[in-house]
Amino acid sequence: MIRPAEICAEKNLPVALRLAVTDRCQHRCLYCVPAQGILKCAHGDILSYEEIVSFVAGVRRSCGLSRVRLTGGDPLARRDVTTLVEMLAALDLPDLSLTTNGAQLGELAADLKRAGLRRLNVSLDSLRPETFRQLTRGGDLAGVLRGLRAALACGLHPVRLNMVVLRSINDGEVAELARFALDLGCELRFLELMPIGSAAARFSEWFVPSAEVKSRLEQSFDLAPLANESGSTSVNFAARSADGRSGTIGFISSVSNSFCAACRRLRLTPTGLLLGCLARPEGLDLRPILRGPPEARDPALAQAVQEALSLKGRRRCFADQRPMVGVGG
Ligand code: 5AD
Ligand code: SF4
Repeated sequence: MIRPAEICAEKNLPVALRLAVTDRCQHRCLYCVPAQGILKCAHGDILSYEEIVSFVAGVRRSCGLSRVRLTGGDPLARRDVTTLVEMLAALDLPDLSLTTNGAQLGELAADLKRAGLRRLNVSLDSLRPETFRQLTRGGDLAGVLRGLRAALACGLHPVRLNMVVLRSINDGEVAELARFALDLGCELRFLELMPIGSAAARFSEWFVPSAEVKSRLEQSFDLAPLANESGSTSVNFAARSADGRSGTIGFISSVSNSFCAACRRLRLTPTGLLLGCLARPEGLDLRPILRGPPEARDPALAQAVQEALSLKGRRRCFADQRPMVGVGG
């Protein structure tokens, strides 16, 4: 029998990193942040840009890296995040991207592009201003759409849209979102809600399986399967509508079709905890390594990466009720 710990540790493949650079966010989405808010990390506990870059460079040297993605909270809510992008871009990584809620993209898109970012994902759960405001507890849809257009105008490519589908909140908008995304030349991904953070308590009420979203879309689009991108958790389709729209639509089915067995993704929290899986509570504190002697760093990071990989399970268990705002999506 293969034990879960051996599945990932045995494959000598590079790892993909998600760096949550802050737990601050301009939005407080219903499914992410509890109504009373969360306790924010103290500034002094948050890794510096130098520490984050030293982590990424060390993992690259000792284990190999495929992708690096900045998340949060909202990564654009961290001061001077373009400086971090510039520092990471200087490492000439195979792939550097970012996921944002778009609230500050209008002001930052051009600077991010200049700093060396090539592509990004924007979370967009509704195109109706009032639904958007309620879902994000106060977010301004018009500002996000301005940010999206600014990102496209300055040549960031591809720009992907992520929609988390929630029953009776935005599930009536899936075809509308698809038409909107394809008209802009964006890929669209539908995310299944995961029972973590404040989504846990409302999960049975809000969860919509990807299969249901897909059959709704098939009323307006023909969906032809595309080959899987390596390392991607999204199952993609070439979408075409009767009125001539075409583009790529994907489904990330974290709950109905768990992809844990093939996962090589590790998450770093703003305070330097390395997590093997966002659905599990265990993590390794990297601050002693990153703040310790430089000559000991690479072997210690290599060991930490192997330990974190071994924390993965074959299927998600969602034992962790940590809000996504602190661990990144
Ligand atoms: N389930 C699914 N997706 C979530 N996100 C945040 N919380 C959840 C959850 N409980 C999404 C955000 C964003 C991405 C980074 O993760 O909407 O698109
Ligand atoms: Fe919403 Fe993302 Fe912010 Fe959570 S981190 S509140 S999902 S925008």
